[in-house]
Amino acid sequence: MKIPLVVGNWKMHGTQADCFDRARMIAKDLDETPASVEVAVAPPFTALAPVKQAIGNSKVQLAAQNCHWQQNGAFTGEVSPTMLRDIGCDFVILGHSERRHIFHESDVFVAKKMNAALESGLRIILCVGETLQERRKRQTLRIISRQLRIALKGAIKDGIDKIEIAYEPVWAIGTGHNATPEQISQVHAGIRLFLVKSFGEEIGSQVRILYGGSVNPDNAPELAKTANVSGLLVGGASLKPETFLPIVRSFTEN
Ligand code: PGA
Repeated sequence: MKIPLVVGNWKMHGTQADCFDRARMIAKDLDETPASVEVAVAPPFTALAPVKQAIGNSKVQLAAQNCHWQQNGAFTGEVSPTMLRDIGCDFVILGHSERRHIFHESDVFVAKKMNAALESGLRIILCVGETLQERRKRQTLRIISRQLRIALKGAIKDGIDKIEIAYEPVWAIGTGHNATPEQISQVHAGIRLFLVKSFGEEIGSQVRILYGGSVNPDNAPELAKTANVSGLLVGGASLKPETFLPIVRSFTEN
C-alpha cells in the first residue's frame, strides 16, 4: 500500500511572498522532522515559481489547482499541463467542486483535462463529491460513480497509478462541517469498489482515496484513522503551517 498523501490547497490566497514563506516553513519543518507521508502544496498559479524555489530539494511536492485540456493554443487566460510541468509541478488538482459548481466545469471537461494532464506527465488529484441535496436524495454513490466513470474513461491502466481520488462532499468544503468517519468510510468503500471493478483488484486497490472538507488539526487524527482514508486534501487549514503541519503529522502519530 502506498504511504498517505496530504495536500494543501491554497485556493486564491496569498501573494508570491506569502506563499514563498508558507512553503519554506512547511518544507523546513518536514526536513527537520520527516513524516512518513507524501506532502504537496497547491498555491495559486502566480506563486508556483516562488513556491518551487522555496521547497527546493525538500520532500514537499508542487501541485497546481487546475489546467486546460490542450497543451497550447488560442485559449486566453488558460494554463496548459505542459506549462505546469515546465514550472516544476508534480500534481494538478482536477474536478474540484469550486471548478465544477462556480465555473460550471462538466464531467466531460474534467475528463479532457485528465487526459491532457496524464499526457504531460502530471499526476492528478481528481476530486469527486455530492451536494447536500444529492446526499439527502440518497444519490451520493450514484453521483460519484458518474463523476468517476466519465473522468477516468481515458485513464488507461498505465495512467491510473498517476491518479489520486479525493472525496470532497460539497457540503463539507469550507463550512466547518466535516463528514463523519462513518459517512467517509462508506463512500470511500464505494469508490474502492468502483476502482477494483474498473481496473482489477491489483491496480484498483492501490489508488489512494483522500478525504477533503473542513479538515483541521482537531479532526485530522480521527480522519487519519478512518477506514479507507489514504490521505487528506486540506483547504483553509493549509494556509498556516501551524495548522497544516499537525494535520500532516496526524498520519505519522497513528
Ligand atoms: P476546506 O477546503 O478544507 O477549507 O473545507 C477543502 C478543499 O476545498 O479542498
